[in-house]
Amino acid sequence: MRTVNELFRLDERVAIVTGGAGHIGLAFGEALSEQGARVVVVDRQRLACEERAHVLETKSGVKALALPEDLSDSAAPGRVVAATLAAFGRIDVIVNNAAFTGASGLPGYAVPFPEQSLEAWEAAIRVNLTCAFQLVQAAHEELAARRGSVVNVGSIYGVVGPNMNLYAGTPMGNPAAYAATKGGLLQLTQYLATVLAPKVRVNAISPGGISRGQPEAFAERYAALTPLKRMGTEEDLKGALALLVSDAGAYITGQNIMVDGGWTAW
Ligand SMILES: NC(=O)c1ccc[n+]([C@@H]2O[C@H](COP(=O)([O-])OP(=O)(O)OC[C@H]3O[C@@H](n4cnc5c(N)ncnc54)[C@H](O)[C@@H]3O)[C@@H](O)[C@H]2O)c1
Repeated sequence: MRTVNELFRLDERVAIVTGGAGHIGLAFGEALSEQGARVVVVDRQRLACEERAHVLETKSGVKALALPEDLSDSAAPGRVVAATLAAFGRIDVIVNNAAFTGASGLPGYAVPFPEQSLEAWEAAIRVNLTCAFQLVQAAHEELAARRGSVVNVGSIYGVVGPNMNLYAGTPMGNPAAYAATKGGLLQLTQYLATVLAPKVRVNAISPGGISRGQPEAFAERYAALTPLKRMGTEEDLKGALALLVSDAGAYITGQNIMVDGGWTAW
């Protein structure tokens, strides 16, 4: 029997992280490279993407690749798979993490429901949901050959509705398209977990709100409504990812781990 430390290792494996230059993407990239994987950082922020790949490589001593791509382009997922295979010759892990979040600044998105635009709705569906479908479809044979795994990044808002009282008096919002795409991603997780079994495992992680300089009134209300009495941190998400993508999670598929301080437990 292998030790726990051996089970969590990803040496030789290759992991793609979409939105890899974002806040949670950084934590995921770190976790994967600390486990020994070669990480492919995919993000539309070209400079941040290149910088992140460089930092990962320097810190872990394991190769990393920056792939600046705008995933709004329906041809981008195919390019990501082709470029990863050209660079590393294999794909073991895909983390579908890129999304238009409430803080993305997309016009017509994080605004009151009557003002939410069709353009923003469609843009969010493309990046938050369709891109995951395309990426896994483009890589499924390679993932199967490697007995690979996929992790989709959901949200508490893919599981429960928003409490709009949290946002009162702040410029923050909670778009319908965010809820719909995150809910869709969770069901896509279950679909793929059964359809791609037994060779590919597919799971989800659904974070709660991450503390990131939100208005004090929001952060206090949020913490008060959370059993663990605080907002999350990016670091809180590393362990769940490390489990799901490695052999430590070899018998886990079709699951959604809520990393939310208990937000959805009551
Ligand atoms: N921050 C939270 O409180 C929270 C809570 C629950 C779930 N999540 C989820 O976690 C994931 C990461 O969120 P985050 O908080 O790190 O946000 P973030 O905005 O810091 O990161 C998202 C990244 O995705 C990239 N991205 C967006 N659109 C893209 C596109 N078209 N092409 C390529 N890259 C694109 C952005 O450039 C950014 O780097 C998202 O799926 C989000 O929905 C976040």
